[in-house]
Amino acid sequence: MITFNHVTKRYNEEKTAVKDLNFTVEKGNIVVLLGPSGCGKTTLLRMVNRLESISEGNIVINEQDSMDLNAIELRRKVGYVIQSNGLFPNMTIEENVMIVPDLLGWTKKEKRERFDYLMKLIGLDPKIYRKRFPHELSGGQQQRIGVVRALAADPPVMLMDEPFGALDPIIREKIQDEFLQIQREVKKTILFVSHDIDEAIKMGDKIVLLRDGEIMQYDTPSEMLTHPKNEFVSQFFGKDRAIKSLSLHTVKNLQEVIGLAHIDDAIEDTKTINVNQDLRNTISMLLNQEADQVIVTDDQGERIGSITIDLVQKYLHFEIKGKLSVSQEG
Ligand SMILES: Nc1ncnc2c1ncn2[C@@H]1O[C@H](COP(=O)(O)OP(=O)(O)OP(=O)(O)O)[C@@H](O)[C@H]1O
Ligand SMILES: [Mg+2]
Repeated sequence: MITFNHVTKRYNEEKTAVKDLNFTVEKGNIVVLLGPSGCGKTTLLRMVNRLESISEGNIVINEQDSMDLNAIELRRKVGYVIQSNGLFPNMTIEENVMIVPDLLGWTKKEKRERFDYLMKLIGLDPKIYRKRFPHELSGGQQQRIGVVRALAADPPVMLMDEPFGALDPIIREKIQDEFLQIQREVKKTILFVSHDIDEAIKMGDKIVLLRDGEIMQYDTPSEMLTHPKNEFVSQFFGKDRAIKSLSLHTVKNLQEVIGLAHIDDAIEDTKTINVNQDLRNTISMLLNQEADQVIVTDDQGERIGSITIDLVQKYLHFEIKGKLSVSQEG
């Protein structure tokens, strides 16, 4: 758990970057810091591991005031992923990943086992990559190594500053999925900076939306989309809030509310989609294949029905737009 108590950051007399912030990141949650450039996201992150001093207030990490932690404790407790992956070019992948365990005095055997475990988590063969150098890896692989390096000493808390920002959209989505998968296993408490709305909705258990160093709203993605607290929040998420919130709903949700359509066997070559896929992916699949239906399968691969654009529109109308318009009136 990370708690921010009345945290203020003044860089100088003119510039107060963060103003009296109060919020808590629950254990095992991902909280995304979202907001326009210069709103104070990086400053907030860097105060947690004391790369920036705190002007007023305090930050409590798992019951300990961050100011009471010494450098070693801080390294053990808090992993940090910076935007450009920050790998050292003259060190091998294993040396890069093991920087913090090295500082903490782990044995060779402990380091080797940890390296093998972490590489398997991200689907890279430890034998192949151990002695390679960063430039021999693709951008996506380097970014994965950056993430794994922050996980190396198994810290309970992770700070991630736009960790996937430099990647192209397709690889980025893949790494996001992969990271969520890893998070289900490792359950870290994570502060994750992003300026990308879609990424924030996808990755965040909750989102802190900031403007000029102040919190505009702290909520779950779905609350933020359906009940924006003020004009700034609603403007920030934009007019297509309904479409964005489709990514928070799965085919299964739709099935439970309005049911699936029957499978039309007359249509050939239809694609299939798993019932746990989100509706935004479903829509793009329907549009891309220009088909009237996509077959829905359950986890056993059984065909349980089909989904059409009409159905998604109907669901959008009842489930999502309904909520959006209620919140706008209220
Ligand atoms: N060392 C510094 N001295 C003075 N002002 C600073 C310093 N670092 C940041 N600032 C200012 O503090 C404000 C917040 O900066 P910060 O880097 O935290 O924003 P950010 O939300 O991370 O932005 P971005 O999305 O561009 O990364 C900005 O107005 C910035 O210019
Ligand atoms: Mg920043």
